[in-house]
Amino acid sequence: MTLPKQVEIIEVGPRDGLQNEKNILTPELRVQLIERLAKAGLKKIEAGSFVSPKWVPQMAGTDLVLDQLNASPVKQQTGVKYAALTPNLKGLEGAIQHRADEVAIFSAASESFTQKNINCSISESLKRFEDIMAQAQQINLPVRGYVSTIVGCPYEGGIAPEKVAEVTKHLYEMGCYEVSLGDTIGVGTPIKFKQMLEAVMKDVPVNKLAVHCHNTYGQALANIYTSLEYGINKIDAAVAGLGGCPYAKGASGNIATEDVLFMLNGMNIPTGIDLDEVVSIGNWICDQLGRENQSKVGLANK
Ligand code: HMG
Ligand code: MG
Repeated sequence: MTLPKQVEIIEVGPRDGLQNEKNILTPELRVQLIERLAKAGLKKIEAGSFVSPKWVPQMAGTDLVLDQLNASPVKQQTGVKYAALTPNLKGLEGAIQHRADEVAIFSAASESFTQKNINCSISESLKRFEDIMAQAQQINLPVRGYVSTIVGCPYEGGIAPEKVAEVTKHLYEMGCYEVSLGDTIGVGTPIKFKQMLEAVMKDVPVNKLAVHCHNTYGQALANIYTSLEYGINKIDAAVAGLGGCPYAKGASGNIATEDVLFMLNGMNIPTGIDLDEVVSIGNWICDQLGRENQSKVGLANK
């Protein structure tokens, strides 16, 4: 198998990370974090979510965050794109009003997780997304899709690869320019990833797929390497391994951006991102949050 010649890292720390931190950051600090990441070379950053503040209070103020980001010269200087999660039309309205560059819709391969996460069934979620897609397409707003619980669910246990393939295909055919495959609770192993990817890739071209690996059981880098071998060249990661998922008890954050970068640098796969700067951002944001850095590379260079 040939490894990709270059890899895009999608920085999800300011959304996936901060949404599950005990300490809630001000919009100003969130903007500072995001702009430092943009200056370090990250070209796509999830800046927040337009979800219910009762469900996820950490993401309240995403409107203010986007307004500040859009008013700042950093956006033009770096060419960064800012994404926001939108579970329904109300969320999409917010994302459009506050000029997100793209939006993300999110479902799962497990019924119980979808119910707990967005209060509806998988098929209801897909129906809602059709309305989002129709409106987004009218204004050429790119829509990314997420499938959560791609190998395991906190409520249902193991997930069949065929179910992941079905939801991924649905999102892709609906018009998502890319679908990110989320190992929400980090229980995947390389063999489970292989089985899942082989099922998904029967229907969806590899260049339309990304992986999103939470590192709860320390398997994320192994699973990412396996995904690279299958030709996937888009990887979600969170600076300092921040966060987790509020609807997946015990789940820890995504693989740290620093750790993915160290591995890719070691394989001579270019990303255009300054590892030293991301290490410094990771240690800084952990101080702000009063938490331990989850990045091995960050800790080794503290
Ligand atoms: P619901 O309660 O079913 O919605 O929630 P509703 O339509 O009945 O509305 C109830 C209230 O929420 C109303 O307010 C609405 O206005 C408000 P009230 O009248 O009670 O004051 N509301 C909203 N407010 C702000 N923005 C909105 C919005 N929609 C309704 N967009 C809903 C449904 C989806 C909104 C809710 O379940 C929710 O917000 N869930 C949060 C989901 C979330 O953010 N999860 C974490 C992100 S997903 C993730 O982390 C996984 C991922 O990383 C991949 C992986 O790791 O696998 C992507
Ligand atoms: Mg996640």
